[in-house]
Amino acid sequence: NLKPRVLSGIQPTGIPHIGNYLGAIKNWVQLQDQFDDVLYTIVDLHALTVPNDPKTLRENIYKMAASLLACGIDTNKSILFQQSQVPHHTDLAWLLGCICTLPRLQHLPQWKEKSKTSENPGIGLFTYPILQAADILIYRATHVPVGEDQIHHLELTRDLAKIFNNKFNFNFPRPKDIMGEGPRIKSLRNPSAKMSKSDVNPKSRIDITDTPDQIVDKIGKSHTDSMQGISYDPESRPGISNLLQIHAAFTNETVENVCEQCKSLNKVQYKTKLSDIIVENLGPIRQETKRLLSDRHYLDTILGKGKEKAAIITENTWKELQKSVGL
Ligand code: ADP
Ligand code: NA
Repeated sequence: NLKPRVLSGIQPTGIPHIGNYLGAIKNWVQLQDQFDDVLYTIVDLHALTVPNDPKTLRENIYKMAASLLACGIDTNKSILFQQSQVPHHTDLAWLLGCICTLPRLQHLPQWKEKSKTSENPGIGLFTYPILQAADILIYRATHVPVGEDQIHHLELTRDLAKIFNNKFNFNFPRPKDIMGEGPRIKSLRNPSAKMSKSDVNPKSRIDITDTPDQIVDKIGKSHTDSMQGISYDPESRPGISNLLQIHAAFTNETVENVCEQCKSLNKVQYKTKLSDIIVENLGPIRQETKRLLSDRHYLDTILGKGKEKAAIITENTWKELQKSVGL
């Protein structure tokens, strides 16, 4: 009897790469038509868990908003908002933090990873999964599209919802993860690593606003192997297989289909074909992102409207929470 509600967030890390697009954003676009009630948030507070230059962060929020809209996020079908503009995410995070034990967070795999690599991490990096839980629960979201790396955090969200419900006789739903994610795209330079913004080599990724020349150059120089022809075998041919995955994701075909079409091409010919496909698909997205970025007032208006709609939901939940907790 619970009405489905989808919520997902993305950090304002600037212009997305095709891994972000094919792995997450493209599916967000589809979910808008599959569900009536959909919220997408640019999670700027989460971005603060690692050092962030204020000017760059501000710019990156606009870049992400413009990119999402250019990729097809449609504010007639979903609510798009900036996390920090909406009250009560952080209020609920505090309530949840008060019922979450230290070991529960210490055991999260992402904390174990991240605390190793960052020097003197702040408390925010440790507790951000609690804020993530609050982002979801404040809307009573029922469906959350997540990548593999976020599964443990959604599990924490369900645990905290259950503990909170029991303790305060509340009615948070149990949010389900949905396969809102596409293929895992690998680095063009090292196909054993994922394509990532944090990769120091910008040629390892294609950004959605890359020019045709940049795309041709990056695909042309992408790491493959010395075997002949085109075949899909992620184990022994990770480079070519990654290109085929990118291809199939752009054209909405199966990798097998794409392979069948291209098996007579040599690698140089195949890279030319794939570059053409990427150029063609990203062209309109690049232009629309640029256009939107030159109209900050429009982006402010869009995020302002999203904030209004999201805030109504959070105000209501917060009133109920205050009552339940005794505030
Ligand atoms: P990055 O590693 O570039 O910083 P994020 O961790 O910010 O990417 O991820 C943003 C979204 O994009 C998440 O939903 C994540 O699962 C997805 N994503 C990131 N990298 C990839 C990739 N290489 N292939 C597919 N999806 C990806
Ligand atoms: Na919708």
